[in-house]
Amino acid sequence: MEEKYFYIKPEKARGLLSQMKEMKAAKRGVDRQAYLIDEYAVLKASKIKLRNVTTRDDNLAYFDELIKTLMDLKEQGVAVVPILGYCVEPNSENGNGYIIQSRAKGAELYDDSIMKEYYVGKPHFAYLSSDIDAKEYVISRTNLISKVPQNHFDKFIRDIIILLNNDILIDFNGKSNFFYDDIDGFQFIDLDSHTDYKYGLVENKMDGKEIAAYYGFTPCHLAVGTKLLPDFALDEKAISIIDDEKLRQLAMDNKTIYEKCKTALLNNGILEKQLSNSLAILKLFGCCNMQENNI
Ligand SMILES: Nc1ncnc2c1ncn2[C@@H]1O[C@H](COP(=O)(O)OP(=O)(O)O)[C@@H](O)[C@H]1O
Ligand SMILES: [Mg+2]
Repeated sequence: MEEKYFYIKPEKARGLLSQMKEMKAAKRGVDRQAYLIDEYAVLKASKIKLRNVTTRDDNLAYFDELIKTLMDLKEQGVAVVPILGYCVEPNSENGNGYIIQSRAKGAELYDDSIMKEYYVGKPHFAYLSSDIDAKEYVISRTNLISKVPQNHFDKFIRDIIILLNNDILIDFNGKSNFFYDDIDGFQFIDLDSHTDYKYGLVENKMDGKEIAAYYGFTPCHLAVGTKLLPDFALDEKAISIIDDEKLRQLAMDNKTIYEKCKTALLNNGILEKQLSNSLAILKLFGCCNMQENNI
């Protein structure tokens, strides 16, 4: 294994790696399995040499640069969860190895492994599993997020814009890529690539504010008919098992979250025009068409 430990002592890193080998993964995503040990997360990964799925990074120069940028941003107050170091099997085709990060505080914004029960795209999330009761979870978690103070939403949007302007790719294709903690606020994980612009794959750099106008609504649940992230829309049949009163509560809480997201976007200089463009293709549960959501 080739070891690169930037912000963690090699002995500590090796200790964590030997500990995780005795453990079962606590969480997983599409590619990686997470082992949580005290304030650390060790990710077992198989594509360390690939950036954004298809861009080869055989000498890991982009990855090393990304790791340094993440730590710089963290030191400037951006809520990224830093990568502390990694080790990789040099002869493996796409890079088998382990990535050591700080452990994110709090819990997933919404845990997709639980929420998938209600997602239209449920079959696509078959690799995720959980024993937690989805009905209880969606109601209580949405209520908790609806009570998050406005300044945490403001900071979430501010950080999205800073990350994108630094060419860090945020994977909005999963609500488990964001954490929320009542002290630290929203945090970002699964940051392992730059944007396509950085790699010369597209001509123009994306405007961070433009992207934020669309994806800044990530803390909201989507409704069927959304053109953006349609797999994450709440399946009407699946949620109909929730009783009417709780469903009304869910819709109201989601509307509160929507309003806080919108305020945060406006507070960060996103224009009304940009918001109306994004809201034309996004459909949010309990917000746009009250009739359809039975409230
Ligand atoms: N630093 C971390 N702290 C706490 N949990 C983490 C951390 N990194 C990953 N996880 C958990 O593991 C899951 C998968 O990790 P992620 O980096 O998102 O990999 P993938 O690329 O496979 O989605 C996350 O959704 C989260 O639940
Ligand atoms: Mg992920």
